[in-house]
Amino acid sequence: MRPAPTLPPTNELFRMDGMRVLLTGAGGAIGSVLAKAFADLGAAVAVHDLNLDKVEPLAQEITDAGGQAYPIAADISDPIQCTELIDSAVGALGGLDVLVNGAGINRRKPILDVTVDDFDAITAVNMRAVYLLSQAAHPHLKASGRGSIVNLSSLSARYSFNTISVYAATKAAVSGMTRSFAREWAGDDIRVNCIEPAVVQTEFTKPLWGEEHRYRWFGDTTPVGRLAQAQELVGAVVFLATPASSYITGQGIVIEGGILAGGDWDSYAETNS
Ligand SMILES: NC(=O)c1ccc[n+]([C@@H]2O[C@H](COP(=O)([O-])OP(=O)(O)OC[C@H]3O[C@@H](n4cnc5c(N)ncnc54)[C@H](O)[C@@H]3O)[C@@H](O)[C@H]2O)c1
Repeated sequence: MRPAPTLPPTNELFRMDGMRVLLTGAGGAIGSVLAKAFADLGAAVAVHDLNLDKVEPLAQEITDAGGQAYPIAADISDPIQCTELIDSAVGALGGLDVLVNGAGINRRKPILDVTVDDFDAITAVNMRAVYLLSQAAHPHLKASGRGSIVNLSSLSARYSFNTISVYAATKAAVSGMTRSFAREWAGDDIRVNCIEPAVVQTEFTKPLWGEEHRYRWFGDTTPVGRLAQAQELVGAVVFLATPASSYITGQGIVIEGGILAGGDWDSYAETNS
């Protein structure tokens, strides 16, 4: 039997003071919101994206607000750059306590139009990079003694839509990897969890909600009656990254406004049309 960890007092359970965090895809809509939240809670954050243009202004904003942020560029579709990214982040932060795999891409197409290039491009970023970055981060997370990985999976891991077959497959893989990594690395004091959000209203998803008929469809078929906002993912990610969830590993938190709770079989009734 292993000893239980010493937890911070209740009012500090969700604090991130002294935590060294690498966030991939930090220049994106969700990533930039998460990066600012981590810094607000006291973490030092390595903010990664494809180009420095995407993360230097973010790092500056965090630094101007009194936080610590280090911009890093890497193309994580390249396995060598995945290893280099971890090395750069560890160099800048002086170690690593939390890896948040946030970078992701999609190419929405019907299945019969998907090319090998589409398949390889999406799987390289959404799936292979998550695996390789986690592998490269392992010794540093283990050395931390309170290591944690939070993967940005998706509701599409469980509940798909048309035109996202490859994306959905990669997110199902990420949720699966979350369990495998959690199982294998629990003994190294590394917890691995993911979030599985439904559509968040960002530029990434604008091709979906930007169409009037789909915008109405999301409102009508989501029990809470609206799309998620990026800020609404912060609580779950911080929970999974901090000692607040010290006995939770291998789990996915679904953030979907009640979609999986069930359907409304009266929605076709005349009074509701
Ligand atoms: N927006 C949503 O509705 C939604 C829902 C569920 C899950 N997610 C997931 O959340 C994450 C963030 O989504 P978002 O809406 O902020 O998207 P986004 O496009 O705004 O951000 C993704 C970031 O990843 C970066 N990226 C892409 N390919 C890269 C590469 N090869 N190397 C390095 N960086 C790369 C992009 O430059 C971008 O800044 C993604 O993993 C996405 O799959 C999003």
